[in-house]
Amino acid sequence: MYSQIIQERVAQLRNEINFHNYRYFVLDSPLVSDGEYDQLMDELRTLEATYPELRTLDSPTQRVSGEAAEGFTKVEHPAPILSLDKATSREDIFVWHTRISKLLPEDASLSPLGNRAPAYVVEPKFDGLTVVLHYENGQLVLGATRGDGQIGEDITTNLRTINTLPLRIPVTPDGPQPPAYLVVRGEVLILLKDFEQLNARLAEAGQPTFANPRNAAAGSLRQLDPRVTAERPLTLYAYHIVTASHPVVASQWDALHYLKTLGFPIAAPLKNGDEVIRRFETLDSVADYCAEMNERRDMLLYEADGLVIKIDDLATQEALGAVGGRPRGAVAYKFPPQEATTTLNDVEFSVGRTGVLTPTALLVPTSIAGVTVSRASLHNFDFIKERDIRIGDRVLVRRAGDVIPYVVGPIVDARDGSEQSIQAPTVCPSCGDPIVHPEGEVAYMCINAACPAQRVQKLNYFAHVLDIEGLGERTAEQLVAQGLVAVPADLYTLTKAELLTLEGFADKKAENLLASIASSTGRDFARVLAALGIRGVGTTIAQVLATAFPSLDALALTSTESLAAVEGIGPIIAESIQSWFTRAHNREMVEKLRQAGLRLRVAPTPESAVPSQTGPLPLKGLNFVITGTLSRPRDEVKAWIEARGGKVTGSVSSKTHYLIIGENPGGNKYNRAQQLNIPMLDETALYTLTK
Ligand code: IVH
Repeated sequence: MYSQIIQERVAQLRNEINFHNYRYFVLDSPLVSDGEYDQLMDELRTLEATYPELRTLDSPTQRVSGEAAEGFTKVEHPAPILSLDKATSREDIFVWHTRISKLLPEDASLSPLGNRAPAYVVEPKFDGLTVVLHYENGQLVLGATRGDGQIGEDITTNLRTINTLPLRIPVTPDGPQPPAYLVVRGEVLILLKDFEQLNARLAEAGQPTFANPRNAAAGSLRQLDPRVTAERPLTLYAYHIVTASHPVVASQWDALHYLKTLGFPIAAPLKNGDEVIRRFETLDSVADYCAEMNERRDMLLYEADGLVIKIDDLATQEALGAVGGRPRGAVAYKFPPQEATTTLNDVEFSVGRTGVLTPTALLVPTSIAGVTVSRASLHNFDFIKERDIRIGDRVLVRRAGDVIPYVVGPIVDARDGSEQSIQAPTVCPSCGDPIVHPEGEVAYMCINAACPAQRVQKLNYFAHVLDIEGLGERTAEQLVAQGLVAVPADLYTLTKAELLTLEGFADKKAENLLASIASSTGRDFARVLAALGIRGVGTTIAQVLATAFPSLDALALTSTESLAAVEGIGPIIAESIQSWFTRAHNREMVEKLRQAGLRLRVAPTPESAVPSQTGPLPLKGLNFVITGTLSRPRDEVKAWIEARGGKVTGSVSSKTHYLIIGENPGGNKYNRAQQLNIPMLDETALYTLTK
């Protein structure tokens, strides 16, 4: 039951969203702001919620659908998913080349290369998980793991949750039409910056963290519950056409660029924007590039354990064939590992904003690829126990990019018996209160709400999320230590005189900080929600919540069951939100934030509507009809529309622009609107019309 107009609008929104996804993820050059993008998504979600019949599996809103699986079904690959031979030196690269040159027909005219110069494509060797994606008439129909190279596992539902993975190709209206059947190989991974955030989030929630991005990607992909996968920041890079119903390209270079025009992300450039994927005409330049990239590997946005060198001409690759499951036409140049062994001197425990203790290894300083490393992550106490890491141990430490290095494990053979086991602290290193270790959880926690370390971290987090310039960890420490701020809401009653009592604060600095605190009252509801620091509610989940609930008060009144029914919200987060609101000190904080003028609701709503003659009139010229029960008295909604220039009439006619539908809508208005093809909106969609 929907009109033609709605159907067209839904199709248009999907096209636009897919297009913006492509600009953002594949081309890295977005044309709209995040806010504008969110608005399109919100409108599409609202329409699909009102007209569930319009939902299709390839809609950008439907990345998470489906329930937890019992296990994964086996699927056969259309062609073997081969691995590669390795090269670890310049010499190895030349040896590989000499070997394959001998296999090509001596008579150049017989060579698939003909008279063209040979060429090589060099790509990053992503350290992630290989996936095989099947498209039929442009629709993603199957996604599988590599498995043993012949048979993989069907992980389609999990793969669908990856934002950068096209559900339908081409993703832009002007992209080429794909072959009827197309199978693409790619790698799923987690970008280094996302990995750090993910681990921080898990640690705060008292959940086990991942040892490295690859493990995190693997653990997330093989999740039986796609809702968990959806919460993980997975990324995809495509690099190979496994098979197609008709040949589409003749070279690897063209294959990569063809994949890109279809909408697949291919290897992202280095941090400074330099392309990583390169094409060379001589083997010397290939080897030079390998050496150069080895030096610059910290510039990559993801972990790569080397580069892959491929003969560009696909017919030559084909002619070279494979031996022992490895194609001859490509070779993996492996970077030397960025690892070192050193001695673990001690372990430091720090208290995070939720009270969880995080262990950090204090090391005898050592150099890894030119960088001195003296501290490394130990993830959590379970990791220490699992690996039986002891003080005095020689440990293997690895680093990648700029992220904090991590301990891989102890070198057990290097022990001399003097090593000491590591004990979890029994009292909080900050406040001295007893540490608790909740049954069945990984975390060791300080549960003292007044613990200074927690207060500092909470304040620091709040300032970070609300973008309060000039309030970093150091200032947060000073504010807490001086007793000026206990909870973030206290920021809004700070005075200049108080700030001047802090070391290093003079007039200008105090004024600047007060100004940035004041400007944080203008942040939108979703951000404020994220800043509250509710366990499990980071910026992404806060956005989901702000779309589903118009205000913090509405959220506070929602039952755990209703919360968990929201797409993207699992039972654990639902429970965490509920229990956050039951605590008196959290409710007090909300009241303080309200008084300070922070935004605790989305967009304007009837409540806040003061009819304004001078303000903009975004609904001018539009006629509305209301049917059914709305969340507030109909008069209020009417006043809200009128304050924005709209008109509300009692019956639907050809002059009506929108029918606003509440609960139990009246049949007459509804049927009439349908006959006349008049768009129907729910209450939330009405309020977003003026955004
Ligand atoms: S090409 C015929 N290219 O590295 C195609 N593989 O042993 C053969 N890998 O697990 C693979 N990045 O999945 C190729 N740019 C890239 C790659 C890549 C990562 C993986 C591959 C395999 C391993 C090679």
